Amino acid sequence: MGKVIAIANQKGGVGKTTTAINLAASLAAAEHSTLLLDIDPQANCTSGVGLEEDQIEASIYEVLIGEVAASEAVVTTEMPFLDVIPSHINLVGAEIEMIDEMKREKILSNALPRVRRKYDFVVIDCPPSLGLLTLNSLTAANSVLIPVQAEYFALEGLGQLLNTIKIVRQHLNPDLEIEGVLLTMFDTRLNLSNQVAQEVRRYFGENVFETIVKRNVRLSEAPSFGEPAILYEASSTGAKNYMALAREILDNNPDVGSPHHTNGADPGDEAPAGTGETGEDPGGVSGTIGGDPSGPTEESTATADEVSG
Ligand SMILES: Nc1ncnc2c1ncn2[C@@H]1O[C@H](COP(=O)(O)OP(=O)(O)O)[C@@H](O)[C@H]1O
Ligand SMILES: [Mg+2]
Repeated sequence: MGKVIAIANQKGGVGKTTTAINLAASLAAAEHSTLLLDIDPQANCTSGVGLEEDQIEASIYEVLIGEVAASEAVVTTEMPFLDVIPSHINLVGAEIEMIDEMKREKILSNALPRVRRKYDFVVIDCPPSLGLLTLNSLTAANSVLIPVQAEYFALEGLGQLLNTIKIVRQHLNPDLEIEGVLLTMFDTRLNLSNQVAQEVRRYFGENVFETIVKRNVRLSEAPSFGEPAILYEASSTGAKNYMALAREILDNNPDVGSPHHTNGADPGDEAPAGTGETGEDPGGVSGTIGGDPSGPTEESTATADEVSG
């Protein structure tokens, strides 16, 4: 049974999709069979791994409305250990269609078990809301990974997310764990980033990953080439940071699957991410901040009260 990790934060632009794609790719690079499940109607994960609409026969939408089995929506990628269940913009309607269903928060968890067996990990990219799609993800998941952007207001809204997790535990999924809080878009040159990191660590303590994802322009470029950073530029800071995250998660989950075959080349022996050791950041800030249309302008709807129980 694969471990299901939901990447969630109702704020848009905090690095959920970037984390889902690159964590899944890094786990796959470590030869753990991994399924990347895109449940955001914006389908950024889907395009980010190079899937074009005409290659998609069925998406998570058809799975949720019961038209196809989850296994029928699986698409392979150019990485041998990485498969994807794509999303589609018509998923916007699913949230409404699902409202009248019995046990509407459990649709995904009921659809996943059979396909889950084939993987060591299932990584779910959640939409920027606490609506029904995120609730389905949290209900189907073993754990939740919370990306937090190292920026002003980093902690804003997290209380609401934690409250939703609490409600899900009480009513839907008692075993839901917090996989960890991940600091993203960290800028070593900014005092602010360090202050935010301190604050997040004070608040979440041991739940914060040691790995920190630095701001790295390769991470924002790679999706437009339809590739995880590890394929786009394996030596980039971004690719290395996510490889370090995958290793940290593998260390924390010694019981989850074993690599399918082990042969030589370990893609990274570098210093762990987040140590600030090299200070290297090839892209710098210029290419990313401000020039990002899909960033923090996204709507963040908070509908934790939708949980019916
Ligand atoms: N570590 C990073 N360095 C540089 N840009 C990043 C980084 N992480 C994410 N981005 C960029 O920030 C934007 C928002 O990230 P994204 O992963 O789409 O967030 P979310 O899925 O939470 O909305 C995207 O344009 C993405 O390419
Ligand atoms: Mg996203």
